Amino acid sequence: MGRTMRTPIIAGNWKLNNTISEAVALTTALKDLVADCAGVEIIVAPTFTALATVSDIIRDSNIRLAAQDVYWEDSGAFTGEVSAPMLKDAGCDYIIIGHSERRQYFGETNESVNQKVKTALSHDLKPIICVGEQLEDREAGRTETVIENHVSGGTAGLSSAQLLSSIIAYEPVWAIGTGKTATPAQAQEVHSYIRKLLKDAYSADVASQVRIQYGGSVKPENAAELMSQPDVDGALVGGASLQAESFAEIVKSAIL
Ligand code: 13P
Repeated sequence: MGRTMRTPIIAGNWKLNNTISEAVALTTALKDLVADCAGVEIIVAPTFTALATVSDIIRDSNIRLAAQDVYWEDSGAFTGEVSAPMLKDAGCDYIIIGHSERRQYFGETNESVNQKVKTALSHDLKPIICVGEQLEDREAGRTETVIENHVSGGTAGLSSAQLLSSIIAYEPVWAIGTGKTATPAQAQEVHSYIRKLLKDAYSADVASQVRIQYGGSVKPENAAELMSQPDVDGALVGGASLQAESFAEIVKSAIL
């Protein structure tokens, strides 16, 4: 199965940016710019505080909502956390899980990622499972080892059906926010390795259906070339998703 059988998926990870009023302005502008875009899944991931408001704006549009994290308990004495039922209630369909910033700064581990992935799936929310090597891993020739560890750790115990409801995002840490994008060939090499891992763990059929996004300094100028690679099924966009025009251009470059 080729890339054409997998619907491309472009997600904007807003990270720690945008007040509610800024989120309203960005979403309203984006909604107009991508109103005619079909054949591509479009996702925005605001901060928790803006989710419900953004959800109201994109109701009946072709934009879907993601959260940037989730906790695995539904409710209880867990100060500061947000649960899957709450995210569903706020209008989310997706949750970004295990972003490298969470692994680096907030102690996220493969185990917590896996627990959150299972929690999301059990609430009918689709996890976007982030994996990616640091610069020193790449320079030491450990890219595949790290990717194998993140992919097998994050997806541990998932059924084929659960894996098919999940998205993998390959984000080389050295390319995030640095302006240093992986070359299309570098991205393709790791995406194809991830697909091989999924084939070995599940089946060729399942692996051929899972969508794998690339993330790390994706811009309107490089998006089309990255997405022309056979195993690159979309983009997880940080900085360039904070401007409606640049994010819309990236969305359009995913339409074949
Ligand atoms: P940038 O696009 O800003 O490099 O961020 C990528 C990213 O981390 C998306 O999750």
